[in-house]
Amino acid sequence: MHIKNYLLFALVFLTGYTVTQAQAPATNYDESKVPPYTLPDPLLTPEGKKVVTTAEWEQNQRPYILKLFTENVYGRIPHKSSGMHFSVTEQGTPVMGGKAVRKQVTIHFEKGDKWPFMDVLIYLPKTNHPVPVFVGLNFNGNHTVAPDKEIRLPQYRAGKNKDADPETLRGTSASRWPVESIVNGGYGVATAWYYDLEPDNKDGWKDGIRTTLKETLHIAPEEWSAIGAWAWGLSRIQDYLETDKDVDAKQTILLGHSRLGKTSLWAGANDGRFSIVISNESGEGGAALSRRIYGETIRNLNTSFPHWFIERYKSFNDHPEKMPTDQHMLLSLIAPRPLYVASAEEDRWADPKGEFLSAKNAGPVYALYKLEGVGVTEMPPVNTPVGKSVRYHVRTGKHDVTLYDWTQYIHFADQYIKK
Ligand code: GCU
Repeated sequence: MHIKNYLLFALVFLTGYTVTQAQAPATNYDESKVPPYTLPDPLLTPEGKKVVTTAEWEQNQRPYILKLFTENVYGRIPHKSSGMHFSVTEQGTPVMGGKAVRKQVTIHFEKGDKWPFMDVLIYLPKTNHPVPVFVGLNFNGNHTVAPDKEIRLPQYRAGKNKDADPETLRGTSASRWPVESIVNGGYGVATAWYYDLEPDNKDGWKDGIRTTLKETLHIAPEEWSAIGAWAWGLSRIQDYLETDKDVDAKQTILLGHSRLGKTSLWAGANDGRFSIVISNESGEGGAALSRRIYGETIRNLNTSFPHWFIERYKSFNDHPEKMPTDQHMLLSLIAPRPLYVASAEEDRWADPKGEFLSAKNAGPVYALYKLEGVGVTEMPPVNTPVGKSVRYHVRTGKHDVTLYDWTQYIHFADQYIKK
């Protein structure tokens, strides 16, 4: 070994200082240390012209921005498979003292009943007309959404279910899914476990639909991402809801928390059938601006979760300024549909201010439609939602989905949804 290498080895050995650690910048939580940045203008065409009409936006600029996200961040989303079909395993069992029904549906992605498929759990208020429905993926399995013995258990063990008896997990995510409050508000809710689409680990794509459906969907695993696969699944839930006469599928409200918030934004950008989109603390790679260096960075994301995005996204690890996009442009793809972006004060990793600024900077696209965005220039105080077509709040507390969040979402939806 060359003397220089000995010295380096001794340095690494004695100090525990490794080259990788030296390269990974420390997380910045200091507002005064956020380096200056300039955001790309969602209304500026590749030819340098400013978009001024909704027609120009819809015909050219919006597809152009969607393509930028496809090619640089999340990958391509394939069409549904022709063999897809639904089997309603539970037609509508009265629950909550008769004021709601529970349905369960399996979405088979191919002809026949074999794996892969996705189990959807649905609660609908009991009424005599089709109801609007909140749609979102869940983190730990449908059986964790409510303490309800009749909810079908996940079909295989992974994630939290891997080591625990799934029976013991029933209802453990119930605080994130206040089903009764949702039903009382006049809404239904449809949810599925994201692992049914792709297990959330770096090798998950081998077991998930990116591998099992690659021939059926005519797409190679590396052409899309875990977030893409989860987003594709959300659109398949929408496909099912369109066949359910108890559901008003023209009024579906897409929501997601954290990584599943990133997913909902990407699904909402690709699938205009979702009439409202809600991002709950989706952070980096979701609602938060990447050029604003605060909390999680692109490098952090790609290091801990190399499967969430496409390979090309890694080339921006330390250079968000080189991306042709930033996340306010993703939010602008939801326009003119109502959009809600929510943060939590203690969730600094997700950069609440970066989420607010992103929501604010989607405003010019809403303005093309003569719609008011967040309506303020400064971040509002905690627990003070602001904005019209783009609504924003930062609530007190930690990274989570709480009843406070749901109460705001229901109130927001009430302004747009006809019941
Ligand atoms: C991690 C990750 C975030 C993500 C979050 C979650 O903290 O770094 O980007 O949003 O997990 O999904 O809970």
